[in-house]
Amino acid sequence: MELDLLGDWKRTHYCGELRPSHARQKVFVAGWVDRRRDLGNLIFLDLRDHTGIVQVVLNPEISREAHDKGEQVRGEYVLGVEGEVVSRAKHTVNPQIATGEVEVQAQSILVLNEAKTPPFPLDDGARTSEEARLRYRYVDLRRARMQRNLRLRHQASLAVREHMNEHGFLEIETPFLTRSTPEGARDYLVPSRLRHGHFYALPQSPQLFKQLLMVGGFDRYFQIVRCFRDEDLRADRQPEFTQIDVEMAFPQRDELFDIIERLMEKLFALLDVKVERPFPRLPYDEAMERYGSDKPHIGFGLDWKRIALPEAMSGKLNTAPSAKMLRLAEQGHFSRSQLDKVQDLAKASGADWFSYIKTADKGLQSPLVKAVGEPAVETLAREAGMTSGDILLLIGTKADGASVMKARHLDEASGAIRLELAERLGLIKSGGWNFVWVVDFPMFEHNEKEKRFVAMHHPFTSPREEDLPKLETDPAAAKARAYDLVLNGQEIGGGSIRMHRRDVQAGVFRVLGLTEEKARERFGFLLEALESGAPPHGGIALGWDRIIALMAGESNIREVIAFPKTASAVDLMCDAPAPVDPEQLDELGIKIADP
Ligand code: AMO
Repeated sequence: MELDLLGDWKRTHYCGELRPSHARQKVFVAGWVDRRRDLGNLIFLDLRDHTGIVQVVLNPEISREAHDKGEQVRGEYVLGVEGEVVSRAKHTVNPQIATGEVEVQAQSILVLNEAKTPPFPLDDGARTSEEARLRYRYVDLRRARMQRNLRLRHQASLAVREHMNEHGFLEIETPFLTRSTPEGARDYLVPSRLRHGHFYALPQSPQLFKQLLMVGGFDRYFQIVRCFRDEDLRADRQPEFTQIDVEMAFPQRDELFDIIERLMEKLFALLDVKVERPFPRLPYDEAMERYGSDKPHIGFGLDWKRIALPEAMSGKLNTAPSAKMLRLAEQGHFSRSQLDKVQDLAKASGADWFSYIKTADKGLQSPLVKAVGEPAVETLAREAGMTSGDILLLIGTKADGASVMKARHLDEASGAIRLELAERLGLIKSGGWNFVWVVDFPMFEHNEKEKRFVAMHHPFTSPREEDLPKLETDPAAAKARAYDLVLNGQEIGGGSIRMHRRDVQAGVFRVLGLTEEKARERFGFLLEALESGAPPHGGIALGWDRIIALMAGESNIREVIAFPKTASAVDLMCDAPAPVDPEQLDELGIKIADP
């Protein structure tokens, strides 16, 4: 059809704003045709913009021309409508929409653009496949859900900037074309045209630059910044994601925590949620012992405890002397198949053995009775404080399984069981906001495969002052001045107090197996900077996509990112990554090997 020009027309109101108080006003509204109903003499159009929908009536008695055009428009056509706001008759009021008491009687309409039939209906809730939504993201973005989520993200970003500025933090940009910074993932590399065989790395985080800003005297820095990590993706991970990156000089951990807690308070106030401060602090060891996770959901109980096993039992079954136990009060009715499921989970997550004890009217029930006899089981039940109707879950390792790795697997198994039970028992309440700081992480993890230590947070994290000697004697026992912020069982931030002394940094590199030469080659600029008067400093980075997803009630961070990638790191809309012209490769001096 013949299209109209916008010319000098200017929008006077948004569709979703119109109310009875606008009645008899002349307005110009613009947007997309959400729906069209042709009743012969009258045509109704639902016109949509980001604020909502208003009904437009095309009446040939008011404008024959507008009515004629209305016969040709279809869903998602782009229109401008000039007309008068009129109150609807009582029986035609639509209580479902905010503008339901009025409609716009069109005097003229401009058809500004046509549209093909949309790839999916915009109002079909969750039925459209995610693949289609990402392929046609520009259409998907018109949905109320995406509009709401990205507007929330914008409001939240404003609140961050305001808050950080109030606390004296400067927003400073750091480079994207840089050198690799180890944050535990693979780098995205960018080949250099001018220096063949040389590559930039896209930053996994601005970690080193923010430290250098402290050396440079900026005192307090923040940035809402994109980070790039080539790692296995999940619902809470994207290859490029956004951090609220923060660093301060002369830091006291508790001062930093307070600044971040107040930020969370402001963010959640956008949802009318009151956040309780200060957030609890939980040492890493306790988190692993009680919750079996370094990012525990603390919104419900189900705490695991350690229990010593009667000697008769550990001896006969050849288990380690203690096990982990979880006592569930009044859950004696747990069925055999439910217990089997917990057992499968325990084994799959790395426990060597699983068992249970039930207290019932008939006495104790447990597979252990047959194996080790009733007295040992009775002792165990008494030690565990069991009362009638309880069930006790037990997981443990074999006698020879006392390695750090085994203990870790056992904790992981207890964590997996805890979450499964919480779900099954309906203990995870929606609308609860359970923040917790996990503190005192170990400095190092032992990588069994590579037979060496790796930094648990990153290699620039300082050990606790009292643990400095352990770098030489017992690195595995050294604790870091590192912390994570956890919300409802999700890690939404992590940071640490850094090493500001060259000698301490060198000591950590040694534990990590980086020779002086290698360290100089990779981080020479940092080491030099530490020698040039580096102040004590520390900071944190918040996972912005995760925070917004939690705030928006979304379980996948893709729902709060305008143009996200799939789980295989593909942009379905632009079809990236894609091959490039051979000339481009030639210029870069790159040859693609046969697959
Ligand atoms: P870290 O690696 O813990 O710390 O990252 C900080 C936070 O970023 C979020 N996050 C992610 N979000 C989405 N997709 C990903 N692939 C992804 N990876 C991490 C998490 C995480 O808690 N330089 C340090 C910070 C510091 O020490 O100050 C760092 O980047 O919510």
